[in-house]
Amino acid sequence: MPSRRNLLIQAAGLAGAALTPTAWTSAVAQTRMADSPFGLGVASGEPAPDGMVLWTRLATKPREMGAGMTSAPVAVRWEIAEDEGLTRIVARGRTLAVAEAGHSVHIEVQGLKPGREYWYRFLAGGHSSPVGRTRTTPAAGAEVDRLTLAYASCQKYSAGFYTAHAALAAERPDLVLFLGDYIYEEAEKGKGVRPHPVEEPVDLAGYRHRYAWYKADPHLQAAHAAAPWIVTWDDHEVANDYGGDQDRTNPDPAVFLKRRAAAYQVFYENMPLRRAQRPVGPDMLLYRSRGWGDLAQIQMLDTRQYRNRRTCDAVSDGKRIPIDCPERLDPARSLLGERQELWLQGELRASRARWNLLGQQYLMEQLMTRLGMVGNDGWDGYAASRRRVLETWRDSKVSNPVVLGGDIHCFFAGDLALEAGGPAIATEFVGGSISSLGASASDMKLLLAGNRQLKFGEGETRGYGRVELTRKACTVTFRGVENALVEGSPVTDLAKFAVEDGQAGVKRA
Ligand SMILES: [Fe+2]
Repeated sequence: MPSRRNLLIQAAGLAGAALTPTAWTSAVAQTRMADSPFGLGVASGEPAPDGMVLWTRLATKPREMGAGMTSAPVAVRWEIAEDEGLTRIVARGRTLAVAEAGHSVHIEVQGLKPGREYWYRFLAGGHSSPVGRTRTTPAAGAEVDRLTLAYASCQKYSAGFYTAHAALAAERPDLVLFLGDYIYEEAEKGKGVRPHPVEEPVDLAGYRHRYAWYKADPHLQAAHAAAPWIVTWDDHEVANDYGGDQDRTNPDPAVFLKRRAAAYQVFYENMPLRRAQRPVGPDMLLYRSRGWGDLAQIQMLDTRQYRNRRTCDAVSDGKRIPIDCPERLDPARSLLGERQELWLQGELRASRARWNLLGQQYLMEQLMTRLGMVGNDGWDGYAASRRRVLETWRDSKVSNPVVLGGDIHCFFAGDLALEAGGPAIATEFVGGSISSLGASASDMKLLLAGNRQLKFGEGETRGYGRVELTRKACTVTFRGVENALVEGSPVTDLAKFAVEDGQAGVKRA
């Protein structure tokens, strides 16, 4: 008998693989389905010069446990065209969506032309999916003068409406970077502005239900259908503030790693990721880089899976309070793990791109505050790890490093330096959050007063960031939702900044 793990791998491997005629006749799914199985929309991701991943996950009843699907495989066809009306089809194929992979489909399309738009859809059970827009990247090293991308993070479903996603979708950027907290695993009983599942997920069925609940949102679906995404995760895709094999609430690594394996599997099922990212047990390779001609290189980090154990916590009333302590400066500590750090250094040294965007989960700036808190869950708890990244940027003369971050539920723009008041080595833009609640105006005032390298901070407004890269400048616009607790609230420019080619540091634009 194959092990359960092998079964999962084989099942996931079906997606995108060539199928024998026998497999087709045994797939029940040629039959017509009463309800559309495309209740979770479509997505694309991981664009390359010759193709990208096309994704869907079948669900006839997204809000029910099991999403309305049976254990039977479902035959799915896909097609991709050069026009929005899908008349000039350039590739098509078929695959099976199987229950062992949560009825997800990941198609790696190849053979397309570089640097252009495409449109795609899926067909199953007598229904057509919505049409998604995607694109290939320019050829490696090709001279490119523009890239427009949006970045977003932290979309607690119960905390607000996805108005920011609707605005992001309307912009039709070339690319979307999602920087973590795609779902929140918490029970959230009776809290928030809209209903949410009560049980905290710990297994495949629970996480699948949670993702389906989020993905049923039409604005989130629109954002996925508008552009290819490159995603990473933070903690809430698994469990709050977890790190490596350590859960906050369950000290037994063996128990936690089982949960992590389920969470990673379901993350993969729900994201437009390549086969290289398919998890094996509790391990999943998520750090990677993507290029955009000679204009940009994007390094996406995983700051959760390989980090050393958390340190510098005081316990009061059973609650952990992050404090300052010498251990957080220990050079042996790494937020990325040794292998990922070495990989990042190699990527940065080899990059010939004009802009080097680091997609990661945090505010990278040191947060020593008069509020008495230290960001021990992020780079502050691994200060030597941050220093090594800054030193690589400086010593290898990496061209225009710009950090994009999430996690903290606030907008920040700041200069990154090795010492407070020292010369800026990189420039940082963080957040905000799509819906998760952030810092109050009074807390923000204290925070900015204690951190002079932060040039801008806003914690009460939800939203996302827009980045426009040219050969001369990186322009970042913080896009804010007037009130994310109300549906359809207006979205406007909150602040606009520029980084000039060859000059690290935030300037008002
Ligand atoms: Fe978050």
